[in-house]
Amino acid sequence: MNKMIHTQELELSSDYCPKCKGKKSMIINILGKNRKVPVLCKCEKEEYERQKNLEENKEKLYKLQRLREHSLMDESFKSCTFENWKHDKENGKMYKIGVAYCNRWQEMKKKNMGFTFWGPPGTGKSYLSFCIANRLLKSYVPVIAISTIGIINRIYDSYKRYGESGEVAIIHSLKNANLLILDDLGAEYTSKLGKEKQIIYSILDARYRDKKPVIVTTNLNLKQLKEKLRGNDAVDRTYDRLLELAPPVEIKGTSKRIAVGKEKTQMIKNMIH
Ligand SMILES: Nc1ncnc2c1ncn2[C@@H]1O[C@H](COP(=O)(O)OP(=O)(O)OP(=O)(O)O)[C@@H](O)[C@H]1O
Ligand SMILES: [Mg+2]
Ligand SMILES: [Zn+2]
Repeated sequence: MNKMIHTQELELSSDYCPKCKGKKSMIINILGKNRKVPVLCKCEKEEYERQKNLEENKEKLYKLQRLREHSLMDESFKSCTFENWKHDKENGKMYKIGVAYCNRWQEMKKKNMGFTFWGPPGTGKSYLSFCIANRLLKSYVPVIAISTIGIINRIYDSYKRYGESGEVAIIHSLKNANLLILDDLGAEYTSKLGKEKQIIYSILDARYRDKKPVIVTTNLNLKQLKEKLRGNDAVDRTYDRLLELAPPVEIKGTSKRIAVGKEKTQMIKNMIH
């Protein structure tokens, strides 16, 4: 009886939220003593959830931003997305392969599965590869997507600053990417020393040993690519590695650059009229 009175005494009207009329405190019995403890009313709970979501979104955004920064991706490729994909008679299969790859990413990663997209210039090989990169980045998969010349230049720059250890550091940093996209393989220059070939081998070999996939694009055919990658000792170890990591997928079709050019011409026409 005594306890009841005590409880009632503690429950003041100020313990109720004027907005949602929910309780803002409750009485609980701690070690035989009734104590008033604060609780969240409905609007406070909602506010708490809102703040929590805000924080989480901020964190997610921050994480995405950092992943994008680390992706080394050129600004111009950030708009390559499956959402922006322009469907035509030739690129249905490419779209399907790309979307399926992303949907089955966990399995692809486990099987260390990549692609060598090869075919004539302008057929959308880079576009497809960067769509994959952007879709995976969006779901927080660390991806590095860079032109082969771009990565070689980075390594040469780091030689100047750090000597040989620069190459090691850059190749090591590629490890952090669960997927590496090497755009335009075979377009890199080749010095007399064949240093670029050795760099490409080191990159592919590291992917191989780390069991991490790589996607490559090239506008060389497979025979040309094999020749281009052949070591100074005439051994095809880089090409062999590549084929195991990234099985070839032929991309056929006409150059989309003509269509892109036509669109721009139309734009200019519209501007004058
Ligand atoms: N599915 C697509 N949706 C929208 N634009 C596309 C698509 N595919 C290609 N393009 C556009 O067409 C042009 C050529 O595509 P892309 O650069 O991907 O070709 P590529 O096969 O990589 O050529 P290369 O072998 O010369 O590197 C680019 O401007 C690209 O943005
Ligand atoms: Mg390309
Ligand atoms: Zn309330």
